[in-house]
Amino acid sequence: MSKNLLALSDLGVQEIQSMLEEAQFFRETGLYPRLEGKVACNLFFESSTRTQYSFCVAQNKMGMRVVSFDPASSSMNKGETFYDTVKVFDSLGVDVMVIRHQENEYYRELLGHIRAPLVNGGDGTGNHPTQSLLDLLTIRQEFGRFEGLKVSIIGDVRYSRVARTNYEVMRRLGMEVVIAGPEEFLTPEYPDEDVDKAIATSDVVMMLRIQKERQTLWQRFTEEQYHSAYGLTAERVNKMKEKAIILHPAPFNRGVEIASEVVECDKSRIFRQMENGVFVRMAAIRRAVED
Ligand code: NCD
Repeated sequence: MSKNLLALSDLGVQEIQSMLEEAQFFRETGLYPRLEGKVACNLFFESSTRTQYSFCVAQNKMGMRVVSFDPASSSMNKGETFYDTVKVFDSLGVDVMVIRHQENEYYRELLGHIRAPLVNGGDGTGNHPTQSLLDLLTIRQEFGRFEGLKVSIIGDVRYSRVARTNYEVMRRLGMEVVIAGPEEFLTPEYPDEDVDKAIATSDVVMMLRIQKERQTLWQRFTEEQYHSAYGLTAERVNKMKEKAIILHPAPFNRGVEIASEVVECDKSRIFRQMENGVFVRMAAIRRAVED
């Protein structure tokens, strides 16, 4: 069995469930695997706050030594390639590598050429397995099940690795997934619904960040207009189902896809997602390094 974690679609439902159970156990008991003597290396070629530092906190809490690679001050400035850079850390003998990179499936060229197990911290518009795991853990804590729940993913869905990963795994777990948003973000890959209907009928409303560089969108809308047409406003929150929850992988744009007062409202689980991120990343690292 490969110890890499590249895409959740490589894992069966049972293995996904058992990673979630393990993360929940870590959360409830505070008993973490002891990985003293192991060295983790985090290589983030694309910006990251939550993912990067929650891996780092998870690794530290398990007693690992952590090496963080900073592309800006590395020999990549002298023209060293991505492949050769990763080979350096593999040669130094690190025990696991966590990589984020802007190219889809950046890991293809590495497979078979590195010894250290690889955990994907997000590849381009492709996959973000640990983000989906933390989303799933948050949903499981709330509802105790996945089967039969409805999730709406709203915002910049088309180019989102979070949407892509969640759409695949959530349907496999028996959830109904719809998307909503302006036409620029819709794609025939996913079924779409009117935004108000989606919000009022879902158990989980997942908002996604609107990228400021979406030129054609900003030719049609000001941020305020976007917010009233598709944003999660306090009025829309009031129409949500009683037990429904709000998720957002963050970073969020207050006043664009989500109203500022909604970020920490009763239904929001956005900061709980961040908490859960540490525990699912512990499970991912443990799986990668333990025999
Ligand atoms: C997301 C990402 O980078 O894919 N953030 C995250 O990992 N929490 C989503 C985003 O940047 O919009």
